[in-house]
Amino acid sequence: MTEHNYIPEGYERIKVVGDLCAFLEADFAPVANIVLLQRRLNGDFDALAEKMAAYFDLGEDEIFIKYSERDKIEAFQETLGDPALARCVDVILQDMEFFYSARVKIHMRLLTGYTQDVRTHDFHVDGLEQDFDRFMTCYNDPVTQFIRNDDVIDVSGHDVVYRDDAPIYQFCAGDVWKSRVRNKPKSRADMVFERIMKVKEKRAFVHRAQISTTPRLMVVGDKRLS
Ligand SMILES: [Fe+2]
Repeated sequence: MTEHNYIPEGYERIKVVGDLCAFLEADFAPVANIVLLQRRLNGDFDALAEKMAAYFDLGEDEIFIKYSERDKIEAFQETLGDPALARCVDVILQDMEFFYSARVKIHMRLLTGYTQDVRTHDFHVDGLEQDFDRFMTCYNDPVTQFIRNDDVIDVSGHDVVYRDDAPIYQFCAGDVWKSRVRNKPKSRADMVFERIMKVKEKRAFVHRAQISTTPRLMVVGDKRLS
C-alpha cells in the first residue's frame, strides 16, 4: 500500500476550513466525514512528549488526563526549565480549553501504542451504537492515518475490508480535525436500506493509529449528539 504524506487532493469527504470559528461551525454536509483545520505548530513536541513520559512514568501504559484533571498537566509544566517546552504545554492547555468551550468531552493522551485495544492500529471505524463528533489533534508524529472511502469494500461493526492497493493518507502534527461517527442503532428498515446503499462504506471515517516506539501526545474528545 502506497503511503502519502498528507490528505488526498480534491477529496470531497474532507472539508477544509480556514479558522477555529469555521471549524466549530462547519457541519459534514453534504458528504464529508472529516472537517479539518490545517495547523502547523512551533516547538519540539517530541521532546515534550519524552519529558512528559518520564514525569508521568509512562512505560507501556496509556495515560489519559481529563479536562477536569488538567492541573496535573500544569504541575508538570512547572517542572520544565525550558520556556519553549513550557509554551508547548500552553498550546495543549489552550486546545483543551477550546474544545471544552465547544462542549466537547476532551482529554489529553500520552502513549506509545494502544495496548488495551490493539485493533486501534488496524483500519477501523469508531463508536459502535453511538452518534457523536470526535475531535482530535496530534502534537507529534506518527499521526492518524486513513484511507479513502472509494477503497472501502465493507464495514461491519468496527471492522473494515478495504482494497489491498488502497493508498494510505495521514494528517499532519498540529492539524485539528473532527470526524463524523454515526453508528447509533437504527430501525430494521433503515439498517437494510443502509446495507443496500452501502452508506457506511461510503461515509464512515476509516482510520488507524500508527505504531510508535516513542511517546505520542494528542488531545481527543467526543461531542455526543444525543
Ligand atoms: Fe479510532
